[in-house]
Amino acid sequence: MSQPTISDLANEDRLFPPPPAFQAAALASDNSLYREADADHEAFWARQARELITWSSDFHTTLEWELPDARWFVGGTLNVSENCLDRHVAAGKGTKVAFHWEGEPGDTRTITYADLLDEVSRFANVLKDLGVEKGDRVAIYMPMIPELPVALLACTRIGAAHSVIFGGFSPDSIVDRVNDGECKLVITADGGFRRGAPSPLKPNVDEALASCPSVTGVVVVRRTDTEVTMVEGRDHWYHELVGSASPECPPEPMDSEDLLFLLYTSGTTAKPKGIMHTTGGYLTQVAFTHKYVFDLKPETDVYWCSADVGWITGHSYIVYGPLANGATSVLYEGTPDTPGKDRLWDIVERYGVTQLYTAPTAIRMFMKWGAEEPEKHDLSSLRLLGTVGEPINPEAWIWYHTHIGGGRCPIVDTWWQTETGGHMITPLPGVTALKPGSATFPLPGIGVELVDDHGQPIERGGGYLTLTLPWPSMLRGIWGDPQRYFDTYWSTYPGRYFAGDGAKIDDDGYLWLLGRVDDVMNVSGHRISTTEVESALVDHPAVAEAAVVGASDDLTGQAIVGYVIVVNTAEPSDELVEEIRQHVAHKIGPTARPKRVIIVPDLPKTRSGKIMRRLLRDVAEGRDLGDTTTLADPTVVDAIRSSAAEGPGSGR
Ligand code: PRX
Repeated sequence: MSQPTISDLANEDRLFPPPPAFQAAALASDNSLYREADADHEAFWARQARELITWSSDFHTTLEWELPDARWFVGGTLNVSENCLDRHVAAGKGTKVAFHWEGEPGDTRTITYADLLDEVSRFANVLKDLGVEKGDRVAIYMPMIPELPVALLACTRIGAAHSVIFGGFSPDSIVDRVNDGECKLVITADGGFRRGAPSPLKPNVDEALASCPSVTGVVVVRRTDTEVTMVEGRDHWYHELVGSASPECPPEPMDSEDLLFLLYTSGTTAKPKGIMHTTGGYLTQVAFTHKYVFDLKPETDVYWCSADVGWITGHSYIVYGPLANGATSVLYEGTPDTPGKDRLWDIVERYGVTQLYTAPTAIRMFMKWGAEEPEKHDLSSLRLLGTVGEPINPEAWIWYHTHIGGGRCPIVDTWWQTETGGHMITPLPGVTALKPGSATFPLPGIGVELVDDHGQPIERGGGYLTLTLPWPSMLRGIWGDPQRYFDTYWSTYPGRYFAGDGAKIDDDGYLWLLGRVDDVMNVSGHRISTTEVESALVDHPAVAEAAVVGASDDLTGQAIVGYVIVVNTAEPSDELVEEIRQHVAHKIGPTARPKRVIIVPDLPKTRSGKIMRRLLRDVAEGRDLGDTTTLADPTVVDAIRSSAAEGPGSGR
């Protein structure tokens, strides 16, 4: 039986063409890249690979594709650290700044490309001395300090694969990842600074390593100067080893398809998947996208991606894309509200940041803190803004555009995944007219189609997002589990990669992401996306943030339950709850009106800022909670429970 695909409820018709001055100076200002890629997708990527990357030996075949296995730039050899460092220094750019680093306490370091090459080469020699060989895996569990990109690059220099574990993860998460990857070495620090205080890391490694038999050594960077236990024969201080190491370490030529890194995605319930990325294709796509999506002018720009290197965003758009392109970037250790809620804007002003790339969840937090924070600073250096990680609601988009971008900066809303390695659906800022909340179009060289339940392409309305062409930075598998790789991504719609996201396409062909399909709600047979209802909720002036879930309902199958955080000036009351419910009905239609709206103090989020709707469903359906270990703040669920039982909207 044919089932309806996802409903298309919201309508947004504001249009922002590229500002003429921006377009006139942009690297891409017309459709030529799209036309070139449409004419020959492989030739397009081959040109990018040869222009943006330096190969030790050229590839002979652009693509070998046997679903689900892709091999890009076959026969080519290259070294990633050489592409990120040596070639820039050789071109006379050794004194160019690679990173303006700022620690949370306010300490700073300026690191040039020559400095970075020196330190990476020394540390690569240290890794070799500690027995790390080409093909080994190295776990990295560090704060956002310069030694973090150094560690990644040192691995690539000798052909070891890194597996970065986000610094907010627990010892159990370290154990799972280190053991799955059979890592030989762990690189960590005593701690890092967060919210004005040292936050320890090494004790978590010590606890984890009791259960990690593959690890033979640990290298510890001194950052917070807190007391740590050093295990004799296993643990080494970074500064002691690097200081005495040779700065000469020839880069190891790697095959284009050699493993570059593993990065674990946690899925919502099952065991984390070790996503595998390889060398030549990954570097090509991140360099291409970093250059054209951010319109990078490496001579004059100061680019800043405020993500953590522990996520794919940091791998691709703090480390590899920017360094491959010879960019100058900002790297910041801490939180955005330390010491004040204007920390980011202070950094933008002091370094003259030109491109800022951040997450919608952060933007909504900045909205809640108020426009007076950015107004304390001169943000006129900014010329482009970006977002990543979740759909951005039009209201937050407009706020970002107005209060951060001064109305003059294009916003690139970039849709992609850990699995895709690099941007997939996003505007080109000098070409694409923007619609607030839409990631717009697939990039040149990327094939996207929406399909219905039968896998048939749809040209208008809501459906499932699939990718129709292999792309250079695509994942090459799940570490140790080829069957799970095929089943998860390639089996739902034969011949296509299924991203797990819903999306809709409007009359002008713009794509609008609708969230994970697992979260889609089914109300009386209408499939309604969480994204559209959440966006309608935050459109109400009293609502700062919202999350909705479908909870089982005898009458309608599922009923929509909305959890909202209200702005400081709003008085929570049953009347306000009713007004908010009606606002959704008015904005996107009565089928989408939440059955309940509950005012809560906070929402359960992962450390990367994604809302854990599964937990909200548990609360809505009165169940015991599932796994809460990936929550940034585990106490929020209790607060939500008591609001659901007693607060406005509880119907008590
Ligand atoms: O649901 C989509 C959402 O984030 C998912 C990928 O998450 P992760 O692997 O952690 O990578 C995040 C950084 C790329 C996607 O399946 N997502 C990411 N970017 C967007 C987005 N949803 C809507 N719009 C985006 N721009």
